[in-house]
Amino acid sequence: MTPSSLIAPLSLGVVGVYLFVTAPPPLPDGSEASSTFPVETVLTMLAHENDVARTLYTKEIVGQAKPRGVEFREDWREPDVYAGPLPALFLRASAERVARSEHPLGLFLGSDMPIESSNRFDARQMEVFAEVRASREPRFFVDERTGLHTAMFPDFAGAPACVSCHNEHPDSPKTDWELGDVMGATTWTWPDATVPTDTALQLVATLRGAFAATYQEFLDDVTPLAGSPVVGAEWPRNAHALPDAGVFMGRVAETSSAESLALLLGGDR
Ligand code: HEC
Repeated sequence: MTPSSLIAPLSLGVVGVYLFVTAPPPLPDGSEASSTFPVETVLTMLAHENDVARTLYTKEIVGQAKPRGVEFREDWREPDVYAGPLPALFLRASAERVARSEHPLGLFLGSDMPIESSNRFDARQMEVFAEVRASREPRFFVDERTGLHTAMFPDFAGAPACVSCHNEHPDSPKTDWELGDVMGATTWTWPDATVPTDTALQLVATLRGAFAATYQEFLDDVTPLAGSPVVGAEWPRNAHALPDAGVFMGRVAETSSAESLALLLGGDR
C-alpha cells in the first residue's frame, strides 16, 4: 500500500484545510503561522490515530482470531513461532518502523512499573507521568536535556485482561493493578514547536504505513498455519475471516480521519 493511498480519505479534507489557510486575513509580515500546526495538535492527532488502530487490532483482530486458535504472544517474532503480537508489541513493532522513517517522530508506550524494562520512563518523564496519573489527562512538555517536545497520553486499564495479564506476568514489578488505573502513557516526541501542514500529513501516512506493515507481518506469520482464518474482503461479514492489510487500514482510516481532520481544523492556530 502506498503512503498516498493511506492518506487519501484525509487529503480530501486537507484540501479544505489548505483553502482555509490560503485565504486567511493578511498575516503580519514574515509570519508562517498559517502553514503550520502547533506540535500539540499534531501529536494529539497521531495519538488518536494510534488509539483507533490499537482498539481495532485488540477488539476485532485479537478478539476474533484468538477463539479460532490463533495465538498472540510476546515471542511472536521468533522464527519457529506462528503467532501474532500482543497489542503492546503491535505498537512497539510499528514504532520501530516509524523510527526508521525519514521523520524524527518518536513513539513508545512507557510506564513507571513496566513488564519490559526498556519501557521504563526516565527521571524527567517520570515526573510528568506522575501528573498524568493524578489528572488522568495528557501532558505536554519540553524535555530540557534533549530539547524534544514531548506529549504523554494516559493508557488506562480499560479491560480485565489488562489487569490480569500484567499482574500475573513474571516480569511485572507491580502485581496489584486495578481496572481503571493509569498503567502507563503513550509518549511521543518531536523536535520542533510547530509542524508544517505537509509534514503533518506525511506523519499520518508514515504512522498508518507502519501499522499496515506490522499488520501484514502478523498475517504473513499466522496464515501459513493449517486451519488458520482466511484473509480477505469477507471480513467482517464472515467472522472466520481476517481482513487483509488494505481492508484493516481502510477501517482505521474510516474511523479516525474525521476526528483527525477536526483536530487539525479546530487546532489553536
Ligand atoms: C496477554 C498479556 C497482556 C495483556 C492482555 C495486556 N498487556 Fe500490556 N503488556 C504486556 C507485555 C508482555 C508488555 C511488554 C511488551 C514489550 O516487550 O514492550 C506490555 C506492555 C504494556 C505497557 C508498557 C509498559 C510495560 O509494562 O512494559 C503498558 C502501559 C501496557 N502494557 C498497558 C496495557 C493495557 C492498558 C492493557 C489493556 C488494554 C494491556 N496492557 C493488556 C502484556 C499484556
